Amino acid sequence: MKKTIFYIALTLSSLFAKEFNAPMQTYMQGLSAEAKTANPNFSGFDARRGEAIFTGVHMSKKGKDISCTTCHSTNLRSGGTNINTNKPILALSPSTNASRLSDVAEVEKWLRRNFNDVFAREGTALEKGDVLTYIINQ
Ligand code: HEC
Repeated sequence: MKKTIFYIALTLSSLFAKEFNAPMQTYMQGLSAEAKTANPNFSGFDARRGEAIFTGVHMSKKGKDISCTTCHSTNLRSGGTNINTNKPILALSPSTNASRLSDVAEVEKWLRRNFNDVFAREGTALEKGDVLTYIINQ
């Protein structure tokens, strides 16, 4: 009986586990090491802090309210609109869009641009790790 429960739990956890692919795991480990150097008390990335980053509203360089949700919408499983170009953006959630968070160079490039759009600076290792942990769990 115990064994059966164990295997059911194991199957369920592998079904629902949200994991980065190998190159992205290496990237996340790098961010983690950087966050630990910046703060020795760092104890792992947090999806809730990531959500606060993703939904928090800031003043853009153009003097307008902006957040990650301005372009990506609050539902990461549906798409959004790039407010600069009016072009549609496909869903950011890897559970609806398998290509998401799969390419380190792509992720780095857009995080750099998008943090600059919203925060007028680059994201820290902690912020990037938290927000990616939030996105992959959507
Ligand atoms: C001005 C509009 C805009 C804002 C604001 C914005 N993004 Fe983006 N984001 C884009 C566009 C455009 C792309 C690239 C096109 C695409 O991948 O669909 C993109 C791509 C991404 C990607 C790459 C995903 C992948 O693997 O393909 C990530 C991660 C991302 N954004 C996170 C964020 C975060 C975090 C914020 C807030 C700090 C944010 N974005 C704010 C427009 C925006």
